[in-house]
Amino acid sequence: MRHLMSPMDFSVEELDELMDLAENIENDPKKYAHVCDGKKLATCFYEPSTRTRLSFEAAMLNLGGSVLGFSSADSSSAAKGESVSDTIRVISGYADICAMRHPKEGAPLVASSKSLIPVINAGDGGHQHPTQTLTDLYTIRSLYGNIGNLTIGLCGDLKFGRTVHSLINALIRYENINFVLISPDELRVPSYIREDVLRENNAHFKEVERLEDALPELDILYMTRVQRERFFNEEDYVRMKDYYILSKEKMELAKKNMMVLHPLPRVNEISVEVDNDPRAAYFDQARKGVYIRMALIMTLLDLVG
Ligand code: CP
Repeated sequence: MRHLMSPMDFSVEELDELMDLAENIENDPKKYAHVCDGKKLATCFYEPSTRTRLSFEAAMLNLGGSVLGFSSADSSSAAKGESVSDTIRVISGYADICAMRHPKEGAPLVASSKSLIPVINAGDGGHQHPTQTLTDLYTIRSLYGNIGNLTIGLCGDLKFGRTVHSLINALIRYENINFVLISPDELRVPSYIREDVLRENNAHFKEVERLEDALPELDILYMTRVQRERFFNEEDYVRMKDYYILSKEKMELAKKNMMVLHPLPRVNEISVEVDNDPRAAYFDQARKGVYIRMALIMTLLDLVG
């Protein structure tokens, strides 16, 4: 039995296979409409979500399976003090696979150690968000044909943004990726990402503060929101929240073919006027999340081929 806790749980070859399958599904969804007949997905979300939970549910429904679950800790027996270990033991008797989001780093890993069914980390605190990374990689491959030889700017809350941590972990394994880490000093990537992931793997990276300075060299700009829920006080959040706002004027500094990605939800960091720019790929990125999650469910349930 296999779980997904981090994008590193899949080799580059396995990621390629997963993306090939997602592409086949996207091109011919009817062919996969009954692959999961009789199977159930449990979505155990202890934190709010729109895309991840609903795209997982759409993925399982598209495959012919069914879904059950909860969308907040308050509506589950966690509110009565039940541990994730006990919860997953129980869910193992109700479903075939589980996607779990939790505010505590490592909670899905704890669940996986007690689980009798595959567990997918759907985001754990400020740590990892591997299925967003699968979505990001699949989107990048769809846009460029392959993943490599790219200068990628990661902008915003690089300290708490788990999507950024997972994406860096995944991208260091591809050829000639240059990272431009764009953040204020207070929201720089954690040192374990800078030292243990980037430097340890001899990745090309630099850290800058001004988005305007970085924009002209980027092939991809990956914007992120400031993660309000991870701040210790509201004052700090208010001070940082509008540090970066990608506007139509700033887009003029970028290459004509620079693509803008964002895991969403967006708050203020991309002006809505940018949505009409052909380089804005974030809504299509969210749509692609369904296909890669379909491929992931099939893979973890051993239903491929
Ligand atoms: N990208 C993402 O994780 O969005 P949700 O929080 O809406 O799931």
